[in-house]
Amino acid sequence: MRLAHVDERLSLSGFTLWFTGLSGAGKTTIAELVGPELERRGGPVEYLDGDVVRTHLSKGLSFSKEDRDTNVERIGWVASKFTRHGAWTLVSAISPYAATRQKAREMVEAEGPFIEVHVNASADACADRDVKGLYKKALAGEIPEFTGVSDPYEAPENPELVLSTEDESAEASAQRVIAELEARSLI
Ligand code: ADX
Repeated sequence: MRLAHVDERLSLSGFTLWFTGLSGAGKTTIAELVGPELERRGGPVEYLDGDVVRTHLSKGLSFSKEDRDTNVERIGWVASKFTRHGAWTLVSAISPYAATRQKAREMVEAEGPFIEVHVNASADACADRDVKGLYKKALAGEIPEFTGVSDPYEAPENPELVLSTEDESAEASAQRVIAELEARSLI
């Protein structure tokens, strides 16, 4: 009885994949490629995307350091609950401050693995792409406290994985994420 219970828990091990990086670096794009592949493999996939979280859970928060920290801590807290209940949780949030990402890591790691993925592209490269047109506005001074332009981004020092999205396609990056999860026997 006890063992059967343990087996059930093992077959449903949750984890959190935490994509951090500048706006436009490719976090959401890669998560949206990885997620469906995880679903094909039978995973109970859940997403926590910064842009979406800010329309619900973090509605009304600004981009001050204090509010970003609140946002990231909320995401970490929810990710820890999802992880506890076996979800393969995909977080995409700039999460610019190392100490706050560490807090999120600690909350999640109380429940399961935390895989920090640095989606690495320079501010110049993101500004060149400027998919949402935000860098243009930020550089013109129309958006204050814009990460990578007028606000800090503390790159992870020891992430589980670094994706250089200036040098490889989103598909190749997504494949590397899948390979990392396989290597860790998480999928
Ligand atoms: S975080 O810093 O609190 O982790 P989050 O990932 O939730 O940020 O939201 C980032 C998104 O908000 C960006 O992709 C961008 O579309 C938008 N945004 C609006 N204002 C800013 C700003 N000042 N700095 C960064 N992103 C901003």
